[in-house]
Amino acid sequence: MPTPLMVSSELLNKDLTGKTYVVTGANSGIGLVTMQQLAKQGATVVMGVRRVQEGNRVAAEIRREVPSAKLEVFQLELGDLSSVRAFAAEVNRHHPQLQGLVNNAGVMKTPFGHTKDGFETQFGVNHLGHFLLTNLLTDALKAGAPSRVVNLSSAFHEFAMGRKGDIHFDDLNYQRRQFDSWEAYAQSKLANLLHARELGRRLAGTGVTVASVNPGFVRTNLMKVSLPMWLQRLLVIPVLRLFGMIEPWEGAQSTLHALLAPEVEKQSGAYYSQIAPYKDKASRKGGWPLRSPNPVAHDDAVAKRLWDASEVLVQDK
Ligand SMILES: NC(=O)c1ccc[n+]([C@@H]2O[C@H](COP(=O)([O-])OP(=O)(O)OC[C@H]3O[C@@H](n4cnc5c(N)ncnc54)[C@H](OP(=O)(O)O)[C@@H]3O)[C@@H](O)[C@H]2O)c1
Repeated sequence: MPTPLMVSSELLNKDLTGKTYVVTGANSGIGLVTMQQLAKQGATVVMGVRRVQEGNRVAAEIRREVPSAKLEVFQLELGDLSSVRAFAAEVNRHHPQLQGLVNNAGVMKTPFGHTKDGFETQFGVNHLGHFLLTNLLTDALKAGAPSRVVNLSSAFHEFAMGRKGDIHFDDLNYQRRQFDSWEAYAQSKLANLLHARELGRRLAGTGVTVASVNPGFVRTNLMKVSLPMWLQRLLVIPVLRLFGMIEPWEGAQSTLHALLAPEVEKQSGAYYSQIAPYKDKASRKGGWPLRSPNPVAHDDAVAKRLWDASEVLVQDK
């Protein structure tokens, strides 16, 4: 596998004092490392977490390492639109100006199930919850411009374990067809990418820049291995590393690039990818930006149709 793409030390030392970022799923994996880096650089970070106690525990741990860290922990359950509305209202009340929103939280390969509002779990949590959240925070992002929105997509928006990434408009929530959890994950991650593309188009000229990213194949809770850590370090991690698995810090690089690199402003709506096991060999070395190997990812009509369908589903029109 090629070596991971890394952000320059210059960007990682940029002073972010006075800037405020919202990171969903900031208590774990890629979101945790992203939040930690932004806090180290002086930013205020609102951590949107579904388990507040765990969020507070993680925030306390970061404060031990970075005593100046400005962290706020707010409850956010993306599988419940009333929680998304309550979270957004709190953020808007405390922070009417934002410099960044990182739509990072996510679930993968969940069994067939529904969010509180009746959406298929992965489409509901990964896409619809973040779609509504973004709409509700757009005024604050405009007020805080220049600002950024970063959606965590995945290389699996191309193919997820052989299932091609597509948006199944005839049955977005698997009400009439056989459920396939990998296909549903691919749909949700393609939706994250298309949401960023359409949002970038809609927010042109506002100073809000939008991106989607693929963090790579990253060792996080998303792919929990139920073996003791010492055994994982000895056996599992070195073997998976050979297959391209990277560490959370490396997995956070594409997000940090999309948030901090000045050139990102020139291509709002673009896709940024870490190295990853794409089916398309030419894409495996990643790219900031990368032209997605999935043709649907470039279809503006699909992006617009998804936006319209999402608006109706979350009743935000
Ligand atoms: N790891 C990879 O290889 C990989 C590859 C491609 C894309 N990604 C994407 O990267 C993002 C971050 O994942 P990760 O790898 O860092 O996994 P992770 O360690 O499992 O983190 C996922 C985060 O999302 C939160 N979350 C899950 N469901 C939620 C809900 N209903 N409401 C609010 N928060 C919820 C989790 O909260 P709890 O801690 O409470 O569960 C956790 O904080 C995801 O969008 C994922 O699709 C990851």
